[in-house]
Amino acid sequence: MRVAVFASGNGSNFEAIAKSDELRNLGLEIEILVCDQPKAHVLKRAKKYHIPVFVNQLSNYPDRSSYEQAIIEKLKPLNIEYILLAGYMKVVTPTLLTAYPNHIINIHPSLLPKFSGLEAIERTFKAGEEVTGVTIHYIDEGVDTGPIIKQCKVVRLRNDTEASLEARIHQTEHQMYRQVILDLLNKNNEVAK
Ligand code: GRF
Repeated sequence: MRVAVFASGNGSNFEAIAKSDELRNLGLEIEILVCDQPKAHVLKRAKKYHIPVFVNQLSNYPDRSSYEQAIIEKLKPLNIEYILLAGYMKVVTPTLLTAYPNHIINIHPSLLPKFSGLEAIERTFKAGEEVTGVTIHYIDEGVDTGPIIKQCKVVRLRNDTEASLEARIHQTEHQMYRQVILDLLNKNNEVAK
């Protein structure tokens, strides 16, 4: 299964996927990392795993559609089947959605529809929520909307700081993203039989 991962920042989810032997052995091929931030740490991680990168900045294009069109042109010859958003900080527009219908997946650090949008962990913590979590979903034209694939809860402990809660949420994210991809691979391998 040939995928492109899109990320803008740290890239811990990208690395959790890239380093998994289990996923690779079941047929996961990360063909490319698409990144909109030339200084993002995720680019160093891609280098470590010898994964090609496409650094593409919105500011170099007249509008979002032509920015995404450039991504589509890059992905086309790679025969990408799924796009995995992993901390990609751009709203995806109909240009990309139409090119990959129902094949773009996102991860979000809250129990959607609660706390959609930016800084979800900080807002969850400040709101004093006792239970938060992680959602992995297909994307549609909204922000953090679209059919949910998997949700897991993360309980806030009595002594949690925002940082300790965040660390557990990220751990959960890494496990969940791997599991969702594993399920997709198994499904794809079944169909191919
Ligand atoms: C994660 O919390 C993810 O849910 C959100 O952005 C963050 C990315 O973290 N969409 P990282 O760059 O993978 O470390």
